[in-house]
Amino acid sequence: MTFVVLDNCIKCKYTDCVDSCPVEAFNEGPNMLVINPDECIDCGVCVPECPIDAIKADEDLEEHEEKFLEINAEMSKVWPVIEESKDPLADADEWADIEDKLKHLEK
Ligand code: SF4
Ligand code: F3S
Repeated sequence: MTFVVLDNCIKCKYTDCVDSCPVEAFNEGPNMLVINPDECIDCGVCVPECPIDAIKADEDLEEHEEKFLEINAEMSKVWPVIEESKDPLADADEWADIEDKLKHLEK
């Protein structure tokens, strides 16, 4: 099991999730965070910290969200660990309610 960051995070990157994580499971890309499944201890503490509900347990993923399992696993091997929260992206609030943001993912 692992927890997974979904496309809600793209172009927002609020990073409130980072400080709650007891291990260093979050990795940072240009406009999204992902969770490293090899580091995540499945505590679930980060879930309520995200203001836009971008984090889910893998067992709760809907079919159309399952691709994010692979995206989190793949990009966590490439992107660096983020250890502390920081300011969200400049126009995060404008993007917060927009759906299907995968096409905006920057790798
Ligand atoms: Fe970190 Fe726990 Fe969230 Fe996994 S579920 S990313 S260990 S806070
Ligand atoms: Fe993304 Fe939510 Fe964390 S927007 S950076 S998963 S607080």
